[in-house]
Amino acid sequence: MESTRMILSVTPSMPCGLQTLARRNLVRALHHRKDARQPRRLSCEATGGRRVDRRDVLLGLGGAAAAGLGAQRDALAAPIQAPDFLNCNPPDLPNTPPDASCCPPYRDGTIITDFRPPPASSPLRVRPAAHLVDAESLAKYERAVALMKQLPADDPRSFEQQWRVHCAYCGAVFDQVGFPDLEIQIHFCWLFFPWHRLYLYFHERILGKLIGDDTFALPFWNWDAPDGMSLPAIYANGSSPLYNERRDPAHQPPFPLDLDYSDTDANISRDQLIDQNLKIMYRQMVSDAKKRELFLGQPYRAGDQPDTGAGSVENVPHGPVHRWTGDPAQPNREDMGNFYSAARDPIFFAHHGNIDRLWHVWRGLRPSNTDFTDPDWLDAAFLFYDEEARLVRVRVRDCLDTAALRYTYQDVGLPWLNARPAKASAGTPAPATTGTLPATLDRTIRVTVTRPRVSRSRREKDEEEEVLVVEGIQIADHFNEFVKFDVLVNEPERAVGGTPATATGYCAGSFAYTPHMARSDEMRNGPVKTVARFGVCDLMDDIGADGDKTVVVSLVPRCGCEMVTVGGVSISYLK
Ligand code: C2O
Repeated sequence: MESTRMILSVTPSMPCGLQTLARRNLVRALHHRKDARQPRRLSCEATGGRRVDRRDVLLGLGGAAAAGLGAQRDALAAPIQAPDFLNCNPPDLPNTPPDASCCPPYRDGTIITDFRPPPASSPLRVRPAAHLVDAESLAKYERAVALMKQLPADDPRSFEQQWRVHCAYCGAVFDQVGFPDLEIQIHFCWLFFPWHRLYLYFHERILGKLIGDDTFALPFWNWDAPDGMSLPAIYANGSSPLYNERRDPAHQPPFPLDLDYSDTDANISRDQLIDQNLKIMYRQMVSDAKKRELFLGQPYRAGDQPDTGAGSVENVPHGPVHRWTGDPAQPNREDMGNFYSAARDPIFFAHHGNIDRLWHVWRGLRPSNTDFTDPDWLDAAFLFYDEEARLVRVRVRDCLDTAALRYTYQDVGLPWLNARPAKASAGTPAPATTGTLPATLDRTIRVTVTRPRVSRSRREKDEEEEVLVVEGIQIADHFNEFVKFDVLVNEPERAVGGTPATATGYCAGSFAYTPHMARSDEMRNGPVKTVARFGVCDLMDDIGADGDKTVVVSLVPRCGCEMVTVGGVSISYLK
């Protein structure tokens, strides 16, 4: 109780000499701060108005002592806590029907239980590729979804409520506990893979329960293999409960899927597109994803602003596949083209089945790859309703082992595993454009970037990945536009005859930002702020730039970039 009283007295006028208080309570205390919206910063009179890091306040350190703490601070943060369902702020969505509130059906006093994994003896569910689903499994799946759609709209297991779960966690609806001015956002950071894994886990169990089949497994959209590179036919049958009318009518099967989709269809042959898709998969899964931050996304802890930075696959192909599926005739490219509505399309769960499978694949590809061991990741918590409509609190650490969750994926091979782009010729790069960053990305911008280290040994390269960082990305609007730009290194003056930029050997990757909700104050007052990172060790070798002290980096706008500014481009190293 002692600590609770102290906490409640934390106000902006209180000196910074707080003594050792329970970390969680302190985090909670910060919700009294009016300026909690500022990223990780709190002002404090004891430092003469100088701003100090939130974590220094947690530690009870004043400015000078805090300044010496350096890297230790990161160990003192706290995980994102499970949201308080009672405190749900219905989003204010432009151009959407008034019933698009995504608050969960929750009554005060509902008991929350902690997650327990299924018994080790329960059957292993084997998720099939959607284009390979047999008639019997399809019939089960359709029956399960039909039953889910028939449940009363206020049953948390109903389809009506299931899609809203995604809507709720994609922003603006829940406060971070203790930070009433900060939303919970499970995209664009290290929560992306675990949250979606858990979402599918409960969704699958509810469907299985509805048809009384504990082997029921959700299909996955195998868009990383040529045979899966179109909308799976089982979702395109107009009389099936898997059908959804809010999709791009031009993208019906067998129209080929473009993993680099930037809101317009590519003007290349089917074979070229497939070849390009495989190269993109290789890049996103292998060369750009050598370290966990680069694959899983950046840390996002209690008190952080959202959008700390998405991992490779979350940017691409995740975002483009969403957009490619959504209906351009809808005001916000509903359903899949906008996160608020995305899970209203049953194909969402197949799309994310593949995303989840690729997490599993990534871990298997390199024995040295591990997930985060940081407790702020492992203990981040969410709430979901299970198949008995019980509210369950579940943490990231609960979902790391798919075998313990009793599911796996059909083995369909990895056709992109050898699709490394050919070495590009080291021609003369197009010169840097005049003018410096920050700049609006309404045209291609080329900047000269210094490489602090050149010609490193193989071992040094394996130990520390060279990372191209595009920082200070600001997007004026969260909701209406898909933003995508490509990042190329030493691209020659003359474009390689009609080949899309991302398929040339010069591409480091793409930044893709799928629209979603945001706090209304953010919509009014502030842009999205985020950072993009690309692992470029292999790329530097492939374009013959490994010995170069400088490279020319091109930022090529593909869509929505008139409202994007970029602050700077630099190279750093990641262990
Ligand atoms: Cu939560 Cu594909 O989005």
